[in-house]
Amino acid sequence: MSRTFYVTTPIYYVNDVPHIGHAYTTLAADVLARYKRIMGYEVFFLTGTDEHGQKVEKTANAAGETPLELADRVVKRFQALWEKLDITPSDFIRTTQERHKKGVSHFFENVLAKGDIYLGQYEDWYCTPCETFWTETQLLDGNCPDCNRSTEKLKEESYFFRMSKYQEQLLAHIEANPEFIQPKSRRNEIISFVKEGLRDLSVSRTTFNWGIPVPKNESHVIYVWFDALANYITALGYPDEDGNYGRFWPADVHLIGKDILRFHTVYWPTFLMAAGLPLPKKVFAHGWWTVEGQKMSKSLQNVVEPNMLIDRYGVDAVRYFLLREVPFGLDGDFSQAALVNRINSDLANDLGNLLNRSTAMINKYFDGQLREPEEMAVIDLAYRAKTEAMVAQVETNMEDLAFSKALQSIWEVVSAGNKYIDETAPWSLAKDPAQSGRLATVMYSLLESQRIVYFLLSAFMPKTAVKALGYLGCAEAPTEAGLAWGGLKPGTAIVKAEALFPRIEDKGE
Ligand code: MSP
Repeated sequence: MSRTFYVTTPIYYVNDVPHIGHAYTTLAADVLARYKRIMGYEVFFLTGTDEHGQKVEKTANAAGETPLELADRVVKRFQALWEKLDITPSDFIRTTQERHKKGVSHFFENVLAKGDIYLGQYEDWYCTPCETFWTETQLLDGNCPDCNRSTEKLKEESYFFRMSKYQEQLLAHIEANPEFIQPKSRRNEIISFVKEGLRDLSVSRTTFNWGIPVPKNESHVIYVWFDALANYITALGYPDEDGNYGRFWPADVHLIGKDILRFHTVYWPTFLMAAGLPLPKKVFAHGWWTVEGQKMSKSLQNVVEPNMLIDRYGVDAVRYFLLREVPFGLDGDFSQAALVNRINSDLANDLGNLLNRSTAMINKYFDGQLREPEEMAVIDLAYRAKTEAMVAQVETNMEDLAFSKALQSIWEVVSAGNKYIDETAPWSLAKDPAQSGRLATVMYSLLESQRIVYFLLSAFMPKTAVKALGYLGCAEAPTEAGLAWGGLKPGTAIVKAEALFPRIEDKGE
């Protein structure tokens, strides 16, 4: 039986156009999906858009469009960006699709039938941008405690979800499954939140109608977060057990930003408990990007537009930078100077140079033909051992979703390669015909180590990896077995590489 892996991104609101925050989560999910595919997993990678709710309705009204017109227009922007970023989702779910609406109605009815949704009266403070209710005491000077914007008092008939009933069960689950909420700091934050007590949650609204109607009571629409969270199962065909739902649920990991942690680790698991469904194995909350030291916001006009970055610096440089610059889980700052710096030092100097130097040398000394290596000397064995250790290290890093560390592990081998050239001095060996066997071993080690480097890098920088592997005469798709030393066959023609990443002279101002 093949191993499966299910990874998701949040579904993005269509009242905003995509920026690097959205690109970041989606890119991380893509790298993970690509890596797992290399390792032989059958992967389901889901992304999509969150199209219901008051926020979307208000934005559409302001733009003189229907909410669906707005959604149709913005969805295209997301999809085009994912294509441009080389993102490879298995499916793209829109919450306005029939399959989703059907699944959500079923999910709602299921919880209702179990007695965990009941009709009551709501009177509380609502923050529309966050689509969240707050009690009087939770407000800070009358404003939303999360985003500090104003709230409005709402009194309405509402369906409630008996979240309070699941407090102990949820705590027990979090405690018994240390992997469930990550990173650890986030887990502690949620444990404290749950210990303060869970209230029943309003899961329907009557004051607007852009949403999925409550089954058999169409004056209510289902709360947008109940609707949205269910995408993770409706996209798999829930409630149909055959097919993807039976195959991929529970998810291996939901990747999210830290701002939506509570929805994913308190609301979602308790909904699932009530419905009697298994919980996702892991929820990982990454940090937020600021831009040149400031919060990214429309009013500051500093929203970083990924399309512009890709046009200017290339897709793989952007993919590399976003995952290398900041440890996944921590906040980070985006600046063009930092991006240019990474391109010049890590990509042009370290990675690109190694490929250039080694492919140029083998062309100069052996007419571009890879020769059979002889017995390896201590220095070659050490270089090979470092390459092999990298494969294991990257596996651990990817298991921890430590993308930046995985790239560091790879770069240690890239640097070791440049040092290996300096220490073995192939140009001296080339002068002495008696050393030709030794030179063959050095050349083989250099190119073989890089083949493995590019197999791993194909998850992060797919186009660059294909290009580099092409120079190395390697056309096969990366696989787990291919990560073992010895894949390059003597006799292979090696092409002299062009610069993978030309240096950038402007500093990004
Ligand atoms: N629609 C909800 C998610 C529903 S999931 C069932 C939503 N959408 S969102 O479009 O507002 O945000 C989506 C994601 O973008 C969140 O994970 C959020 O953390 C992320 N980011 C938004 N701005 C960001 C940064 N400046 N930096 C990093 N990520 C950011 O919430």
